[in-house]
Amino acid sequence: MKKKTIILGIESSCDDTSAAVLADRFLLSNVMASQKIHEQYGGVVPELASRAHQQNILPVVDQALKQAAVTMDDVDAIAFTRGPGLLGSLLVGVSFAKGLALATAKPMIEVNHLQGHILSHFVMQEGKPYSEPKFPFLALLVSGGHTQIIKVNDYLDFEVLGRTIDDAVGEAFDKCAKLLDLGYPGGPVIDRLAKDGDSSRFRFAKPNVPGLDYSFSGIKTSLLYFLRDELEKDPQFIEKNKADLCASFQKDLIDILMKKLLLAVKQTNINQIVIGGGVSANSGLRNRIVEEGEKRGWDTFLPELRFTTDNAAMIAVVGHFKYEKGLFASNDIAPISRAADMNMR
Ligand code: KG4
Ligand code: ZN
Repeated sequence: MKKKTIILGIESSCDDTSAAVLADRFLLSNVMASQKIHEQYGGVVPELASRAHQQNILPVVDQALKQAAVTMDDVDAIAFTRGPGLLGSLLVGVSFAKGLALATAKPMIEVNHLQGHILSHFVMQEGKPYSEPKFPFLALLVSGGHTQIIKVNDYLDFEVLGRTIDDAVGEAFDKCAKLLDLGYPGGPVIDRLAKDGDSSRFRFAKPNVPGLDYSFSGIKTSLLYFLRDELEKDPQFIEKNKADLCASFQKDLIDILMKKLLLAVKQTNINQIVIGGGVSANSGLRNRIVEEGEKRGWDTFLPELRFTTDNAAMIAVVGHFKYEKGLFASNDIAPISRAADMNMR
């Protein structure tokens, strides 16, 4: 019997340190250490993130191997996030992977974090039903740093059809939450409060960007000026209208996302729709995708909630596909922070 391909994945692009082990795409372990320290600062502080990764990485990798009941001898390759992300955070994961690869004489595989979010749909789990999108499919990638519509032709063949020209949608969620004094990260809090709010109560400025690109900076400014005017009239305005503000702002963001996704479907005639990234945890967005999908005959794929946040299982699965093609990294590899500088193929 052919030996299973065992991939160790390592993720450290932002504020989550994670390590995972896959055997022929089946998840054996997925360990995560999230960094609480940033909450008190209202956003990720890059230097503190690097330090926390430095503290967490060895125990996290060790635990992932133990939980998977494998040793480094069993591992066929070490896949790590090369970028995009915070440089200081990426450096910890990349350097750790290089040291480990050198010490154990294992090949290394570089992974694009954004491809990881999308290919997380191909992670398999023992005893869990599995279905995967057929190529080519459209992916709506929505996270704290990125917002893109991508045509995925094959596991490693990605074509970016549209992207945000300014803020990411997760950033819009987080900035709105900051204005409403809801803490960081704000996306999950807005999601929760929106459930009790009236989403038709307020409307904010919608962007007017050509083609499949997005813009989220205008809507945030529109909310800022709206709140400033209302607070002048009534200092309790936010307190009294919190749920309606969250529901309305969230609806506007989802409308913006859906408008371009529908356009992309029309232009490409593709009916396999995948979402991924931190904001794909949003219940309003998930419901809307399913609803539109039922109406239009799409096959829709929503990631399990634990795969929406940054995790190493998604890095390991990209590693698996690259391993099969013999796409290994050289030992002088360095991280890349900007998405635009990264290869999507
Ligand atoms: O993918 P991710 O974990 O990190 C990046 O690669 O950026 O995404 C983090 C983003 C944050 O902006 C966070 O507020 C947002 O995802 N987020 C949500 C929800 N859960 C996380 N936004 C809206 N609704 C949620 N339920
Ligand atoms: Zn991410």
